[in-house]
Amino acid sequence: MKTLVLTAHPDLAKSRINRAWFEALSEAENVTTRDLTAIGGTEMRFDIKVEQALLLAHDRIVFQFPFYWYSAPPVMKAWMDQVLSYGFAYGPGGDLLKGREFLIMVSTGGPEHSYHAGGYNNYSMAEFLKPFQQTANLAGLTYLRPFVAHGMALANKDQIDANVPEMLAYLTDPDLDPKVKQARLLQQLEDDPTKAAAVS
Ligand SMILES: Cc1cc2nc3c(=O)[nH]c(=O)nc-3n(C[C@H](O)[C@H](O)[C@H](O)COP(=O)(O)O)c2cc1C
Repeated sequence: MKTLVLTAHPDLAKSRINRAWFEALSEAENVTTRDLTAIGGTEMRFDIKVEQALLLAHDRIVFQFPFYWYSAPPVMKAWMDQVLSYGFAYGPGGDLLKGREFLIMVSTGGPEHSYHAGGYNNYSMAEFLKPFQQTANLAGLTYLRPFVAHGMALANKDQIDANVPEMLAYLTDPDLDPKVKQARLLQQLEDDPTKAAAVS
């Protein structure tokens, strides 16, 4: 499984959690990282052919960003508007991404309990991330459960150090798609019926 991580932080040098994620992922096997702010420059212009070829060379595509005003920083949107083009990601013949996996990895300032009805952010992360989910649906990507790190505006070193291995384990888990996991468990059962209890 080859994973492409597109990092959309306006200033990774000043970031805490996203920089820690980016650095750890840059060392991980079978993971390609891209700092979109560095690549797109101040104009946020991307070489569409290069970006599309990279997408096609990977099985799992990850958008990584800090939550800014209930969405992603603008460089993420600039990349989407340019790269997920008609005839590539949607429209006639636009099924080139079909069957790949898509995952959002996001840090928030607000605590987990604020992202609920009645909490001060009122809505859940699943609700705020709907435009990304539908983008994935339209492009034929399988939308996986996002990885969310809450309360990260003032995160201390211990919190960041604890979060990084958790993030790495999640992002590199080949079974995040429940269909893939179920197929693997069924295959295990077929190969060795004595494992029935272990896989149920
Ligand atoms: C312009 C801006 C907008 C933000 N909007 C939100 C928001 O809507 N919800 C939230 O929980 N945190 C918000 N935050 C806090 C960031 O999500 C938080 O500082 C970030 O996830 C920390 O990651 P970093 O250490 O990689 O920069 C915002 C921060 C900035 C600078």
